[in-house]
Amino acid sequence: MCGIVGYLGFSDSKKIILNGLKELEYRGYDSAGITILQDGKFHIFKSVGKLNNLIEKSRSLEINGFSVGIGHTRWATHGKPTEDNAHPHSGEFTHIVHNGIIENYGDLKTDLLYKGYKFSSQTDTEVIVHLFEEILDKHQFNDSDNGSFLAFRDTIGLLHGAYALLLIKRDEPERIYFAKEGSPLIIGTNFETGEQIFASSDSPLIGLVDSVIYLKDGEYGYVEQGLIKILNMSGVVIKPEYKTLPQNKELAQKSGFRYFMEKEIYEQSQVVSDTMLGRIGDKNITFDEISPDIFNGINEIKLCACGTSYHTALASSYLFERIARVRVSVEFGSEFRYKDPILHNDTLFVVISQSGETADTLASLKLAVSAGLKTLAICNVDNSSIVRTADYTILTRAGIEKGVASTKAFATQMVVLYMFSIYLAQIRNIISYSGVEEHLQILREIPNAMTINDRVHEKIKRLSKRYLHGHGFFFIGRDIFYPLALEGALKLKEISYLHSEGYPAGEMKHGPIALADPELFTIALLPKNMLYDKTKSNIEELGARDSTICVISSESVELADDFIEISAHHHYMLEFFEMTTVLQLLAMEIAIRLKNDVDMPRNLAKSVTVE
Ligand code: F6R
Repeated sequence: MCGIVGYLGFSDSKKIILNGLKELEYRGYDSAGITILQDGKFHIFKSVGKLNNLIEKSRSLEINGFSVGIGHTRWATHGKPTEDNAHPHSGEFTHIVHNGIIENYGDLKTDLLYKGYKFSSQTDTEVIVHLFEEILDKHQFNDSDNGSFLAFRDTIGLLHGAYALLLIKRDEPERIYFAKEGSPLIIGTNFETGEQIFASSDSPLIGLVDSVIYLKDGEYGYVEQGLIKILNMSGVVIKPEYKTLPQNKELAQKSGFRYFMEKEIYEQSQVVSDTMLGRIGDKNITFDEISPDIFNGINEIKLCACGTSYHTALASSYLFERIARVRVSVEFGSEFRYKDPILHNDTLFVVISQSGETADTLASLKLAVSAGLKTLAICNVDNSSIVRTADYTILTRAGIEKGVASTKAFATQMVVLYMFSIYLAQIRNIISYSGVEEHLQILREIPNAMTINDRVHEKIKRLSKRYLHGHGFFFIGRDIFYPLALEGALKLKEISYLHSEGYPAGEMKHGPIALADPELFTIALLPKNMLYDKTKSNIEELGARDSTICVISSESVELADDFIEISAHHHYMLEFFEMTTVLQLLAMEIAIRLKNDVDMPRNLAKSVTVE
């Protein structure tokens, strides 16, 4: 988590860094800070909470001429969200920002404390700055050795864990040192002006530079005006590999919606359509980025992900079995990586991630790679760590997702996974032409099913009032609607802070139904085309025990207290996609009524790059 930005050049470094941090605020907003080095003097500002506090605090600072600066927006890991723990962290003559976790910071800190270094924060990051100054001091590197650079190299050599870090030093006011291991870091260069800009993701760089370098793990070095020096861990100088930066900033704005989440819910119809573009033909599914031999020698699929992406993994497992008749298992990234799994090379290991940076998913992927498995990433961010690690990638085309609660990433992942299950059925020759055609037709209808109906949205707005109080929510569904129920419950708890759980509807009578009473709200998914009568009976069991029930279906149920009517569809997958939007809107409207910050819910961050 956390976002970092750095700038070196003649423009207004403060403005560029603060604007960049605004773009990265979704990565963490417990505190923020900047240090600008101008005319040999450090200007340091830190504040707790959202970035606006820092903007206010640093208002008086004026930048004239050349300066270097670093900034950070924090999602707390080590140490509470206080000003002392906010980055940049300072030594006697050095400042540093860091995204990641230094796992051996405890040992390093004990040693530094013993040597008399004073710490002013509880963070893991602060050890880096003192360690650097200690090494520089101890080794007395002579000038021709470029002492700071060697000390920086030796410092990162002692760090275990994940880091993207930037370091500036008072007596080298024209240089920024950088290093990357495990956490994302990008360098953008303006070739006309020689300016260098660092960021944790593309968005702060859009409009400022055209070309960027996506640093790889183990790379470090420094930048100066018009100069970049990158080395790898063996000390070999690397030739910068520039990529063109896409310049589509508009997608990252709210365009009239109250929240990014709302805008992203409404965008789903478009982005699922984009995600299918060029992939659904008249008679089959094709993916240019993979070839049919992806499934040579494969007998099983293992899906691995976290959070919302785990829900698409679970939902798609029903499709892989039903449509492609492939054995499939589903794993949480955080569980898989430590369970000493039995892995066979007849398994295709599929990871699903919006950000491509989720630490547990990435670690699981690396485990599968090291076990010699074929790997496929389904991801929304090109060049992300997960994309760079997997053998194959299918990109979802959701665009930048800013709302911390994932919506359009879920929808686009589901579309890719649905298409991939049909693709596998095709290459395994277990589906008829008419079977493929039927699915292609359903896929073509998904954008329409995801177009928000004003009547439905208005009804949800009205209904949300009823569901603000009570002692909790059950979301229930059967078959593929069970993972969707899990996702509905996750959306609600993330942004409303109300207790909600998803259950398979048929499991209620095995325990959870004991909780049923009028203060217990049940949101029931009742698709007309999947186990309708069975699910209806489960809903009636809850109604008979006085739970307050809201049914989402194309047909109302007698015992239901409330009813959100969706369109009548001819296939359960279309009901699945329309219900997805209903659950997202319901969570959002309840959270809005509770006056919560829908886009930045408490305790969460968009990209979970730590364990
Ligand atoms: C929930 C949410 C999270 C993410 C999870 C995995 O709305 O966004 O649960 O789904 O942190 O993130 P990615 O997909 O980036 O790997």
